[in-house]
Amino acid sequence: MRIRTLGWRWYFSAVAGFALSASAVLAQQPQRASATGTLPSTINIASANEPGTPLVVRGVLFKPDGVTPAPGVTLEIHHTDAEGWYHKASRNREQARLLGMLQTDAHGRFEFRTIKPGKYPEGRNPAHIHFKAFGGGFDEQFPTELFFAGDPDLPPANRVPRSGKWNAVCVPARDAVGVLQCTYNIRLE
Ligand SMILES: [Fe+2]
Repeated sequence: MRIRTLGWRWYFSAVAGFALSASAVLAQQPQRASATGTLPSTINIASANEPGTPLVVRGVLFKPDGVTPAPGVTLEIHHTDAEGWYHKASRNREQARLLGMLQTDAHGRFEFRTIKPGKYPEGRNPAHIHFKAFGGGFDEQFPTELFFAGDPDLPPANRVPRSGKWNAVCVPARDAVGVLQCTYNIRLE
């Protein structure tokens, strides 16, 4: 599912105000790697003691043809904490506390471990994870957010995830120790 199916108006309401300054965020996230050079393709966004349900997201980044993997592309990922805050202390969502950067591997693959985000305390936005992709020969772009099946605040047409390669509504499966597992493939533009 692509962003267009959710509606531009809805999308922009979800991300409005998030003119993310990567340098500003990174300055507050000294544990994050630099945007220059090589980043790992597998990262931890949330620490082991972060409140919330553990979540692992795996996927492949594809070139615009939807077939060829895109290696060496940087993905910046951020989302709210389990209570729906990007940054509870400042309440400024431009300073997301749960943020990480990775680079797709030689096969376009990526993986991050975090917690399932909570919904915004105000409003009716479905829980989601934001992505920004850049580098590796591609202009900066914002792939569709990842959502979670069954969320009553998803547009009705999107509450039931589509099957197949481009599903942005995850039906989390729990592994043996209760960690939610999602697959999310991204097609670059
Ligand atoms: Fe958001």
